[in-house]
Amino acid sequence: MEFGPSPSLIKKVVDEFLHDMPLVGPVDKLLDDTLIGEDPALEAALAANAASGLLPFDVAANQGKLLNLIARTARASKILEVGTLGGYSTIWLARAVPSDGRVVTLERNSEYAEVARGNIDRAGVGERVEILLGPALETLPTLYAAYPGKFDLVFIDADKENDVAYTEWAIKLCRPGGLIVVDNVIRFGSVLDPDATADKDPGARGSRDVLEFIGAHARLDGTALQTVGAKGWDGFAFAVVTEE
Ligand code: DHB
Ligand code: MG
Repeated sequence: MEFGPSPSLIKKVVDEFLHDMPLVGPVDKLLDDTLIGEDPALEAALAANAASGLLPFDVAANQGKLLNLIARTARASKILEVGTLGGYSTIWLARAVPSDGRVVTLERNSEYAEVARGNIDRAGVGERVEILLGPALETLPTLYAAYPGKFDLVFIDADKENDVAYTEWAIKLCRPGGLIVVDNVIRFGSVLDPDATADKDPGARGSRDVLEFIGAHARLDGTALQTVGAKGWDGFAFAVVTEE
């Protein structure tokens, strides 16, 4: 079972957006060429994902690099990712932790997890990455039993319907001062009126709810940014977990 709009619909929406905003794609390419450059391991991962028919829902290169810089600035050594897909963002995060650090990434789809394992191992960060197979709402409680309050950073990028539930687990799993990052909180603006777009974008309700949850939660201090780029128009939410 897939969540969210079909890959072909997402591609159509992204393509139309980039067509209507003709400088956005070239600007992203400029940023990638200037600031990131060639990265054979990541390019191989995207090629492997496409060859295996995975949905093109990875973060963009400059977004992956942002996650990497945030993790390094936070000196994160334990990172949790909810939603592995083909492991593209996982590689960016794993590069940020020290060699004895750990990225635990949760994936429900065993085919995705297998593709991700190959990509992550080929990128040379396999020893730092543990992929937990199964629905995250089933693996998160076991993770909490093993690592309560231990994570420095949690990146949530899975089915948007469960964003609030994942964020609730992230609060328990993060140390005080830990950071939660949530992907896709703007969704081409559909968060403005999420129920109106429910048939086209069932994820919009979850994204809107997580923004409101962060804003209202006593232990979260957050913000969010809209982004435009190769992935269209979307955004990230950021929330620091404060002391109890
Ligand atoms: C969708 C999910 C993502 O994680 C993403 O980055 C883009 C789109 C989706 O389900 O529509
Ligand atoms: Mg995403």
